Amino acid sequence: MKKLLVKALALAVCMSTLCLAGCGAKPDAPAPAPAAGNTSEGSSEFKTLESGKLIIGTNAEFPPFEYVGDDGEPDGFDMALIKAVGEKLGLEVEIQNMEFSSLVTAIGSKIDGAIAGMTVTEERLQTVDFSDPYYEAVQYVLVTSDSDIKSAEDLVGKNIGVQLGTTGNFIAEDDIEGATVNAYNKAVDAVNDLVNGKNDAVIVDKNPALVFESNFEGQVVALEGSQFGFENEQYAIALPKDSELTPAVNKALEELKADGTFDELVKKYIEEAE
Ligand code: ARG
Repeated sequence: MKKLLVKALALAVCMSTLCLAGCGAKPDAPAPAPAAGNTSEGSSEFKTLESGKLIIGTNAEFPPFEYVGDDGEPDGFDMALIKAVGEKLGLEVEIQNMEFSSLVTAIGSKIDGAIAGMTVTEERLQTVDFSDPYYEAVQYVLVTSDSDIKSAEDLVGKNIGVQLGTTGNFIAEDDIEGATVNAYNKAVDAVNDLVNGKNDAVIVDKNPALVFESNFEGQVVALEGSQFGFENEQYAIALPKDSELTPAVNKALEELKADGTFDELVKKYIEEAE
């Protein structure tokens, strides 16, 4: 799968929204209270679907990047990362949990962007822009502990489980000859059907594969994608085309990497989960 990095477009910040927020206020009226989580930068700097808010879509079926926490809310590395980005931008982050395959088309109408362990692909770049990549990934193959599958040839003609609309789905359909591809809305359902014999293998990203391997200990084994010739992928935040948010998100990511926050989140959410 070919990957393409996004050229960030530096767009002028729209001053008119700043004026709208400030011009109506009486001279001695107190400044409007910033939205929760705001920093010094004003929330009216960016045009988003709801002023002062960054509505971000995810699919919380992808541990350790996103999963539903004990409190019923989406949690995980991506959630923590986007909240930190929102804070830098002075925007309150609201998460919308939806099907992975709906995320790209919802951007710009239902959500301001998406963070979902989403791989930068040429196809998606036709519809959205991506931030700078924040994580390198690769597809892995989950098989049952007693399976003989070891290489790409062994997958030919097999029943392969994937999550619908993911790069694992595209690989199974485009690159594996004669495979019967079973696509699920939740990757864990593909794993359940691996355990009960309906699938011979599941193609899913490395880190979730490792989490599933430990959650289904003794039943499933995660095989490295390099064994199957799978290429590395890059995760990035998907944003509307030509959005003023993209350079700002890139700057925030850069700052979070420089100040150590990013590495702390990797340690807390990714390294401890595996
Ligand atoms: N990296 C893969 C892709 O972009 C899978 C992502 C699935 N993410 C999720 N939150 N379910 O297609």
